[in-house]
Amino acid sequence: MLLEARNASKTFRARRGAASVAAVSGVTLQARPGEFVAIVGESGSGKSTLARMLLGLIPATSGEIEFDGLSLGRMNRTQVRAYRTGVQAVLQDPSGSLNPRKTVERSLGEIVRLHHVASGRAAVRARVVESLNEVGLSPAEAFLDRYPQELSGGQRQRVLIARALVLSPQIIIADEAVSALDASVKAGILKLMNGLTERLGVGYVFITHDLPVVRKVAQRVYVMKDGHIVEGGSTTQIFTAAKHPYTRSLLASALTLDASSSESPRSDN
Ligand SMILES: Nc1ncnc2c1ncn2[C@@H]1O[C@H](COP(=O)(O)OP(=O)(O)OP(=O)(O)O)[C@@H](O)[C@H]1O
Ligand SMILES: [Mg+2]
Repeated sequence: MLLEARNASKTFRARRGAASVAAVSGVTLQARPGEFVAIVGESGSGKSTLARMLLGLIPATSGEIEFDGLSLGRMNRTQVRAYRTGVQAVLQDPSGSLNPRKTVERSLGEIVRLHHVASGRAAVRARVVESLNEVGLSPAEAFLDRYPQELSGGQRQRVLIARALVLSPQIIIADEAVSALDASVKAGILKLMNGLTERLGVGYVFITHDLPVVRKVAQRVYVMKDGHIVEGGSTTQIFTAAKHPYTRSLLASALTLDASSSESPRSDN
């Protein structure tokens, strides 16, 4: 199983008064179960656009997005279903990913029903409880009747991960999933995500501009600039022997930031 972009591009068409934007240009990358792949790059480099392409939310202008060797545009219904459950999104919480008018049980239960993972009130609830336990929200029963605004930021992010997990995905696309969280909460969520790789074999496409986080969790890194992937390699290779000048400047500026934030020294990465 593989999720792949092959020479994929996305150009947003010109609107009145604005030129067209080549948000993603000729990107080729692979993500697979069990592997933590990171995409880094400055704001506007095309990371979220690429994420939305990998999720099938926007079509590629040219090139292919493929799941399990099949191009997204050319799948039959069974194949589309496998892709729709196999690849899930976990986005940044403040983007309002959870409906404030629905309890945790209802939000997650709807997805379980919609995708025919289980049916019947008890079976649906059991699946929801199981995935809340998987993300460390326990006892899960205590969270079923809560509304998003009755949860902490970290708990909400865990619920979002649980919502992806109810479908037993093979790959999770996480766009800035921990960026809004403070350091200790962030560490907990990252540990959880890593654990899911080991326990359930989930793979990640992890999008962030937080380089210390990437160094800690990723096995492979792709560096984006102006819609292009300028460099890709193992995390060790990128952090110790980056070839592209842009990667080097990105690493250098991250180091400077790290050194200047001396009020919270952290040496555990
Ligand atoms: N729907 C859209 N219509 C027009 N232009 C868009 C659209 N979505 C994104 N863009 C443009 O595409 C480029 C890439 O945006 P994108 O959101 O992918 O960047 P990003 O790397 O995720 O940035 P950030 O780190 O700030 O989240 C930007 O120039 C953006 O303005
Ligand atoms: Mg983005």
